This record gives sequence, structure tokens and C-alpha cells, in this order.
Amino acid sequence: MAEAKDLKSFQRGFESLLPYPSPFFAPSMTKATSHPESLILLRPDTGEEFKLALTDGSIRATDLQQVLLGKDLPWILSYDPGFLNTASCRSDITFINGDAGILSYRGYPVEQLAGVCNFEDICLLLWDGELPTSEQAEAFHQELSNEAILSADMVELFAAFPNGAHPMTMMTAALAVLGSKYPDSSDVLDPKNRRRQMIRLLAKTPALAALAYRRFVGLPVVGPRPELGYTGSFLRMLLGKPGEDYEMSQTVQRAIDTLLTLHADHEQNCSTSAVRNVGSSQTNPYSSVAAGCAALHGPLHGGANQAVLEMLNEIGTVDNVTNFLDSCKAGDRRLMGFGHRVYKNYDPRAKVIRGLCHDILSTIKDDPRLNIAQALEEAALADDYFISRKLFPNVDFYSGLIYSALGFPPEMFTVFFMVGRMPGWLAHWNEMLEDPEQRIVRPRQLYGGPALRDVPTASERR
Ligand code: CMC
Repeated sequence: MAEAKDLKSFQRGFESLLPYPSPFFAPSMTKATSHPESLILLRPDTGEEFKLALTDGSIRATDLQQVLLGKDLPWILSYDPGFLNTASCRSDITFINGDAGILSYRGYPVEQLAGVCNFEDICLLLWDGELPTSEQAEAFHQELSNEAILSADMVELFAAFPNGAHPMTMMTAALAVLGSKYPDSSDVLDPKNRRRQMIRLLAKTPALAALAYRRFVGLPVVGPRPELGYTGSFLRMLLGKPGEDYEMSQTVQRAIDTLLTLHADHEQNCSTSAVRNVGSSQTNPYSSVAAGCAALHGPLHGGANQAVLEMLNEIGTVDNVTNFLDSCKAGDRRLMGFGHRVYKNYDPRAKVIRGLCHDILSTIKDDPRLNIAQALEEAALADDYFISRKLFPNVDFYSGLIYSALGFPPEMFTVFFMVGRMPGWLAHWNEMLEDPEQRIVRPRQLYGGPALRDVPTASERR
């Protein structure tokens, strides 16, 4: 306990060294005041001092290698399970200040982008750093349209999955299989080729997601209509009938487009880190995003939106909210859709989605589970357990209610998250390959197993 207190006061002291309130690098704020350029590490047993350069509020873990120890542990390692305080890369794409509840793509606050820019514009913003002109947007739309169709063998692939296979499992497999159709994708060091594959992957992702859905619910396949726009064509493939025009509700299309935008990137989250880790071996982008898809499926990450709906179904009525929260506080379970590794404030995405949820439910379909969700939120935000741990609703808390109102089964919710996250994964994959500092990801470990010993003979093992 004393140790934990010391750590907190150390962190507070460290923050006061910096010109900005949190140790997360914010480019626009670094020029404000000067800050120390190095830290001195004192080794009490020998009296040696080691100078560690401090750049953008961080030290290089490899600089710790100058502190030599002995033969079993040659030098000091930094130990950070779950990467709570480790920057794995430099990135110019997305900035989060979790304490202040800020999320921006290339500097633009996400709540200003949502509902104003369409998802195709957001993809270009993430990839190229600026919102497109109308000519650039049109050219990009054309490139996506040219690649929107899937070949018949991909349809057959989905038919081969067992009945009831989870759509995220199908997506993980299908993304990797798609790569087998494009052997040229393995040339990841050619920027033009990378861009070609990024367009192809982004263009075909909605068709794959729609196939996963229609296979899951047992409906015939509907092809894309790129002229309806990225989200419009996606909705047609999900909800339309083969050979018929699809009557699209503008409210629904706007809501899905906004949800895709809000999910488009979130810096070094679990799935994006998976994409970067796998991509760092210079494998093709299809395998890299398949790894991201597998990571996203977990209930602590993108799978939380499905888990929230299951939780609301289980709670059943507002009267059961208190008992449910008690079981969370007792550590028996987690309040799904609450808490975040980085946000220690209201997730800005959740604020927009909460508003969207009200709009959709009031215009399309009332859902009593919204009352349960609101009662849970209200009670949790007033409860010491959640307050002291800075647990707030995250992006997944309200999104499932919207997907459910549109008639989608919970198994599809994470697929929507995945379609939204695809441009972010690809932006990071590309940025990683352009970064001369990036190497194959290969963390070290602290070994805790037996010391070296001789293999016993067969008779000694009896
Ligand atoms: N319900 C109850 N207690 C919680 C919750 C929760 N949802 N989240 C964290 N805690 C408690 C946890 O038990 C721990 O308490 P104590 O200090 O007494 O041991 C403390 O808060 C810190 O939790 P942690 O597990 O160390 O925090 P983390 O940063 O490792 O985990 C998280 C972050 C998102 C995995 C976690 O908050 C969680 O499991 N939330 C529920 C799942 C969820 O909604 N996930 C979606 C995340 S947002 C979308 C995305 O980016 O994927």
C-alpha cells in the first residue's frame, strides 16, 4: 500500500516536470515552455549516475541498457505487463487525452467530425493527414467503387462455415483468406503497392461483413451498390433483397456512418497494436488486419458491445440494477461498457453515441433496455466504487442498443466496430512501415522458471 502511495506521489512529481498535464505527447503543446532534457538515475550501491535523455516526456527503454547488472540480468529492463506506461511507437494519426476526455483524428476533435464528414472523408483524413477536397473525395470514392465487389469464391468460403459460426470468427478467417488472392500484397515495402492493398481491403470489408451477417442469419447474398456511398452500399448488402432497390432511411444511414466514424481509430489499442505487431514482421496487410480482427473480438475490447446487450438482457428490469452493480463491486463480474485503459473521464465517443441512441430509439424503435442502461449509468456514476476508479461509460455502452434497434443480432455488433476500425488499422500499418525507427516487435520477458539443469534419465523420471 505504501509502495502504491509512493508511486502516485512520484507520478505527480513527474507530471510537474512537464509542460502539459499528462505524460501523453501532444504536439501542439510542446513548444509552450521548456522542460528537462534528461533524467539522472542514481545507483545507490555503486554511486554511479546515468543520464537518460528525456524526449517528449519519455525515456528510451534501451537507454536503461547502460545500467549493467550481472550475468543473469545483464542490464535493467523496463517491466510493463499490458503496456500501461509504454509508448511502442511515434504516431501522427490520433491523439487521446484520457484525463480530459479528448479524442482527435489528425488534430480534429472526433465529436466535430462525427455527423459532419462522411466515413470516406474520415478514411482519407486518417491515411493522408487532411480532409479531402471534393475532387480528392470523388477520386477516392471511384477507387473504392472499382474494388467493392467480391469474387464468387469468397461467397463460397462463407458458405463453408458451420451454421452458427460467430461473424467475427468468419471475418478473421475471411480477411486472411482474401490475402491469398493477392500474392502481390506481400511486397509491403513499396508505398504504391501498399496503397493499392489498403484501398482493396477498405473497399471489400463491407462486402465481407455483409456476407458474414447474411451467412449467420441465413439470408441470400446481396451485392454492393457503390453509387450509394460506402455506408449506403454496406446497408444495402446487409438489409436489402437480391435484385431489388433498397429503400434507405437517411436517419439510419447517418447513424451508421457516424458510428463508423467514431470507431475509425483509437491510437495504440489492443487490435491496432496487434496489427502493428504482426505487420512488423513484414507479412501482408490481410494477415495483419486478420490479427487485429481476432484481437477485437475479445469481450474486453470490441466484443464488449455484444456483452453489454447480453448484460442488459440479463438484468431484465430497472429494479435489478442495484443488485447487479453490487455484484460488479464485489468483483464477481464487470460492468460491461464501462471503464477504459486510457479514459479516466467520459469517453467522448460515448457522449455522441448516447445522443444518437436516443434519436434512433425515439424514431425507429423504443427499447426498454435503454431505461436499464440509463439507470445503470446514473447509479454507477454516483457510486464511490466507480468514482474512485474513474470508470465511465465507454464507446460500447450505448452502441449495441442502436444496432439492436436496427434489427441486428448481438453477434454482429463487433463486426460494425471492425468495419469502422479498418481504416485506422490500415493507417497504422502503413505508418509503421514508413517509420525508419520501427523494427520487428520482439519484447523481452522476466524469466521465472527453473535455473539451467540436466535432463534426467528415463529411470530418474520414474
Ligand atoms: N466493472 C467493474 N470494475 C471495473 C471495470 C468494470 N467495467 N473496469 C475496471 N474495473 C475495476 C477493476 O476491477 C480494478 O479494480 P481494483 O483496482 O479494485 O482491482 C480497476 O477498476 C482497474 O481496472 P483494470 O482492469 O486494471 O483496468 P484496465 O485498464 O486493465 O482495463 C478495461 C480496462 C476496458 C479492460 C476494463 O475497464 C473493463 O474490463 N471494462 C469492461 C469491458 C469493456 O467495456 N471494454 C470495452 C473497452 S472500450 C472499447 C475498446 O477500446 O475496445
